[in-house]
Amino acid sequence: MLSKTVCQALSDQVTKEIGSSYLYLQMAAWLEAQALKGFAAWMRIQAQEEVAHGMILFNFLLDRGAMAELGAIPKPEAVYASPLQVFERALAHEQGITESINTIMDAAIKDRDFATQRRLDWFISEQVEEEANPTEIIAKIKLLGDGQSLFLLDKELGLRTFVMPPPLAAATAAP
Ligand code: FEO
Repeated sequence: MLSKTVCQALSDQVTKEIGSSYLYLQMAAWLEAQALKGFAAWMRIQAQEEVAHGMILFNFLLDRGAMAELGAIPKPEAVYASPLQVFERALAHEQGITESINTIMDAAIKDRDFATQRRLDWFISEQVEEEANPTEIIAKIKLLGDGQSLFLLDKELGLRTFVMPPPLAAATAAP
């Protein structure tokens, strides 16, 4: 059985994941307004992934017989100075999410809650990629600079496709 602390922390994390989706959707809107449709498409997929992350934890809470109590999602920042700033903010956001997952893991370890630890293992690995992606894009933007070369990167980012995270794909697979 989940402790009250872990249950609350997981519920809060569902809110944070859905909040991440909301933030990335807002970033997609700003990027699209700058005619960077590839960047925007990448961010839309990121937003989609975050909903999937939230659903993995939501399902986990329900599977453990706990009730997810969702919190309020803050209004995301709508205006950015540049695509570089968007990805710098995305990276800072992901670093905060990593910290948040680590804090829940700490609580689950203290509780000897092995099932939650196993579920969080996936998130801990996922956060490596979640930080690596914006880090790589930031490096490329810095390398290419503003202007024409940015459109090459726009083309590359536009190729991203949505891949259902395995824990959610397994939960939604047809019997
Ligand atoms: Fe779900 Fe981007 O962390």
